[in-house]
Amino acid sequence: MEKVDIFDTTLRDGEQSPGASMDVEQKYEIALQLERLGADIIEAGFPVSSPAQFNACKLISERVRGLKVAALARSNMKDLDAAIEATRDAAHPRIHTFIGSSPIHMEYKLKKTESEVLEMARAAVRHARSKVAEVEFSPEDATRSDLEFLYRLIETVIDEGATIINIPDTVGYSVPDEIHRMITSIRNNVPNIDKAILSIHCHNDLGLAVANTLAGIQAGCRQAEVTINGIGERAGNASLEELVMALNVRKELLGFQTRVNTTHIYNTCRMLSSMIGFPIARNKAVVGENAFSHEAGIHQHGVLANRSTYEIMTPESVGRDASKIVLGRHSGMHGFRGRLVELGITLEENELKRAYDRFAQIADRKREVFDEDLFAIVSDELGHQTSGYSLDYFSITSGNIHVPTAGVRLRLDGGEPMEEAATGDGPVDAVFKAIDRVINVPARLIEYNVHAVTPGKQAMGEVSVSLEIEGIRATGHGSSTDIIEASARAYVNAHNRYSAIRNIKEQRELDSL
Ligand code: KIV
Ligand code: ZN
Repeated sequence: MEKVDIFDTTLRDGEQSPGASMDVEQKYEIALQLERLGADIIEAGFPVSSPAQFNACKLISERVRGLKVAALARSNMKDLDAAIEATRDAAHPRIHTFIGSSPIHMEYKLKKTESEVLEMARAAVRHARSKVAEVEFSPEDATRSDLEFLYRLIETVIDEGATIINIPDTVGYSVPDEIHRMITSIRNNVPNIDKAILSIHCHNDLGLAVANTLAGIQAGCRQAEVTINGIGERAGNASLEELVMALNVRKELLGFQTRVNTTHIYNTCRMLSSMIGFPIARNKAVVGENAFSHEAGIHQHGVLANRSTYEIMTPESVGRDASKIVLGRHSGMHGFRGRLVELGITLEENELKRAYDRFAQIADRKREVFDEDLFAIVSDELGHQTSGYSLDYFSITSGNIHVPTAGVRLRLDGGEPMEEAATGDGPVDAVFKAIDRVINVPARLIEYNVHAVTPGKQAMGEVSVSLEIEGIRATGHGSSTDIIEASARAYVNAHNRYSAIRNIKEQRELDSL
């Protein structure tokens, strides 16, 4: 079996999905989980783009030692120096530099000629290699680039010391056969290609990202760039769990292996989904609610006789034993911490304490606390800024003959209580308006999503809210057995995130003076 390296870019390309932004602690949690999962390389961010991105790359480089940490940089010195600095303390740093190579990108985005692009790429790789041993180069929009130019560009950067050549299907335009031919022709026409590892990076605009990634691997790529749950720009990237399980389930046919411990897949996907508030579609391959459910009687009969009649992989192989009721109102801190450890979640002492307090509140209302609830509780607590507003309580009167009315009490940084009341079109609207009155910063609601984490009448609901405040978009999440409470928590959290983003922006403006 030949090994394929899994390069996970959830924290960089994945985070570029609208509404998927994570703060530094959340990124660190995901990085730890990716380490447990067995990813070979993680792309921790694009350091030059913001102080938060820089800090996340730095923290992950310092603390996550069991895999390679890559940082992205355009082919210019400022980007490269930020990426080099942010990954300086990594056990195995990698700089990933890119430049558009297609006629469209060169003419309209870069306004550069082929030879200018070639020289920029050469200088970038040379600079990066003078500081870091491992440099990856991507010709952006490779699949719409002129092949002859691509060969020259790749040959040049390999001569300058690039050790990984990544071929991105940036706009998700290709079909598998084309990818196969393209990788084959690069292997046949770039004279020094044996000095680099070829990598494939596919977007999912036509729903072909995983198929295209597989085609790239079959044609000779030994690194695949993927994201958890396939999140990413527009329709997303190739999904890690689908690619890894395709390689795993069809290993006899395909002949490849990865280092991924597939039994951590479900937890990892669930953790990310709760953290960013993107529910996993019921019919999502490998990790969707329905992936191992059998509805038709004839299927159920077959599965009861032998699971392999309708199942090509076991739920256990991806870490999905039937949802267990693990905890309840009598569970103490010990049991709570123990189950989190079993789920691969490690928290700092203060985070654990906050998560436990929240768990105790939930367990009081909900007799059975499932693993999925624990993910939601932990993500909810980790996602809340430690400074800013907190919700003391709320009350609602509603019904089909009353005007929905809400009262809320908030505190800023644990200070004096502030109370307000408001009416609205519905109970959620009334709560949001009452919160607006306390915070007194005009916010526009752009997105509101709610979904049930677990089945049954006592299900926990997860809410995500996106606000636009003074041109800044901020997303907050909240979870509770009570949808209004989850909504209020998400709304307050979005306001706090806005303040955190605005503070970072102001600091940046001061720094640049
Ligand atoms: O899709 C793309 O082209 C990218 C590059 C930066 C590799 O994400
Ligand atoms: Zn991409």
